[in-house]
Amino acid sequence: MPGARKIIIDTDPGQDDAVAILAAFASPELDVLAITAVAGNVGLHHTERNARAICELAGRRDMRVFAGCDRPTRRPLMEARHVHGETGLDGPDLPPPTMPLQPEHAVDVIIEILRTEPSGSVTLAALGPLTNIATALGRAPDIASRIAEIVFMGGAYFELGNVTPVAEFNIYVDPDAAADVFACGAKITSMPLDVTHRALATPERVSAFQAAGNPAGAAISQLTAFRDRQDPERYGGIGVPLHDPCVIAYLLEPDLFAGRFVNLEVETGSELTRGMTVADWWRRTDRQPNATFMREIDAEGYFRLLAERIARL
Ligand code: RIB
Ligand code: CA
Repeated sequence: MPGARKIIIDTDPGQDDAVAILAAFASPELDVLAITAVAGNVGLHHTERNARAICELAGRRDMRVFAGCDRPTRRPLMEARHVHGETGLDGPDLPPPTMPLQPEHAVDVIIEILRTEPSGSVTLAALGPLTNIATALGRAPDIASRIAEIVFMGGAYFELGNVTPVAEFNIYVDPDAAADVFACGAKITSMPLDVTHRALATPERVSAFQAAGNPAGAAISQLTAFRDRQDPERYGGIGVPLHDPCVIAYLLEPDLFAGRFVNLEVETGSELTRGMTVADWWRRTDRQPNATFMREIDAEGYFRLLAERIARL
């Protein structure tokens, strides 16, 4: 599609990552230049394989998938197999992928794409720990000014944490990488738990994916069943948050979200509050605003968009 927005999807699939990637493939407004896998929900050998399996599910054997960092920048990896399953894609029985994993390291590819595409033309859609992106920025600081926008799922402020009392998983796994990304100077937009916890995949919304009548819809209805992860007290209703597709939905329909341009920092020193993101929502400090922190979501519109796009696959 002429004028499609060029994006790199950096991801740790991951059930919700899978839905996000499928929605991106279904959207001609987006030109997915590459998928770069990172360790997070499960180890890198699973996340890169899952990324290829998701590409094949969408009929995108042409997509270039790269493996990136297999551990956080400065800490050991903490996975979320209890959430996403041993392979990271519990639910559908996807066949092992046969499309190739590209040989280049994902970090090198992120740098190369940002240096060769016109400056300001490529957006980074980050769905997992920010390890690959921070490593690329550290190795090639010149790319920061060439990034159109970094839109990431991660963080929490008013909502508190999902992996500790105060930290969201993607940031908790690699808080040092998050700190480096938040300080890089690029345009940054965060999709924190403050919005994703209001994007609940209810049984009705899950059945809308099934109604697509295609393999992607069937797989997504299995990926989002999450029956064992209901927590009405936590989420204020039936259903389980569908985090990562918020990044893609924002790229497609930004008006589904609302937030504020604030200073966003992350705790990296304290083990008690490691990975806590601190949004200076009321500008209590003189720290310069560096990120748009989203706090509102039109959940009905979000799931309408996702269901409509998935039906196109
Ligand atoms: O906290 C939710 C995030 O952590 C999502 O990106 C999910 O896929 C996991 O990576
Ligand atoms: Ca993810």
